[in-house]
Amino acid sequence: MALVTTTEMFKKAYEGGYAIGAFNVNNMEIVQGITEAAGELNSPLILQVSAGARKYANHTYLVKLVEAALIENDIPIALHLDHGADFEICKSCIDGGFTSVMIDGSHHSFEDNIAVTKKVVEYAHSKGVVVEGELGKLAGVEDDVKVSDADAAYTHPDEVEEFVSRTGVDSLAIAIGTSHGAFKFKPGQKPMLRFDILEEITKRLPNFPIVLHGASSVSQEYVKIIQENGGNLADAIGIPEDMLRQAARSAVCKINIDSDLRLAMTAGVREVLWNNPAAFDPREYLKVGRANVKSLVAHKITNVLGSDNKA
Ligand code: G3H
Ligand code: 13P
Ligand code: ZN
Repeated sequence: MALVTTTEMFKKAYEGGYAIGAFNVNNMEIVQGITEAAGELNSPLILQVSAGARKYANHTYLVKLVEAALIENDIPIALHLDHGADFEICKSCIDGGFTSVMIDGSHHSFEDNIAVTKKVVEYAHSKGVVVEGELGKLAGVEDDVKVSDADAAYTHPDEVEEFVSRTGVDSLAIAIGTSHGAFKFKPGQKPMLRFDILEEITKRLPNFPIVLHGASSVSQEYVKIIQENGGNLADAIGIPEDMLRQAARSAVCKINIDSDLRLAMTAGVREVLWNNPAAFDPREYLKVGRANVKSLVAHKITNVLGSDNKA
């Protein structure tokens, strides 16, 4: 099967009350773990690549790994640029075979965000590629966009209609209390998402696909393994999975997960190396990390996203 855009996936997900997992990929083992799980569960999938991933693994290697996954697994896969910071990186990914890009203008003023997003949409649509925009700022750190807790802000429902109609975006990432990374809430703080804001946005944008970034749930099982095997991840807290399930049943059609993959991979690698200091064959520890990634993604598809058997 060839790469697909997210158009059909989102339409079916919206109507069916489930969401598509958008998983960040950085190397072969991560691509394999994710796609084997989705393939066995017959789930549609979004594989996303950040600017940092392109710097680390090289654009061509990542595209070719995803193409290999398409040969090995008979499921629809969209290849998406995560947090495109400007027109140039979006264009490079559109020209380089991606089927979907995100232009993240959320750190700009409303007007500047509209201007850059519209420019990307015009170019992307002329090439058959779909675009995700963002309104509202999530706290946390990515390689190219950093937002402090103080600067984080929920999306204003009053702005969404104008943003979507003036830019022509195909989906919209919103801020309702999720954040990037493994430390989403302070110890003792009750995890909370603003479902009231999501509901308001859905009223203003009927039948329009919404995206949740920063949606890792930070499995305490993997945190414990990391802690017990020489790591230090005390106080890592994620989004409760029942909240993500609730979001997936609503207008949220794409749920972004990266930190959970990092934890799963790292727990596997740490466990092997900590218990067997003589190990030095990368296959010995990477295969355990890859198996953890696969079981994490299978769990998300079945118990959180609800996208199994929807390919
Ligand atoms: O939202 C950010 C993703 O987790 C990507 O992170 O920029 O470190 O690759 P990265
Ligand atoms: P997490 O850090 O919660 O996995 O979020 C990933 C993300 O939003 C990628 O764009
Ligand atoms: Zn993100």
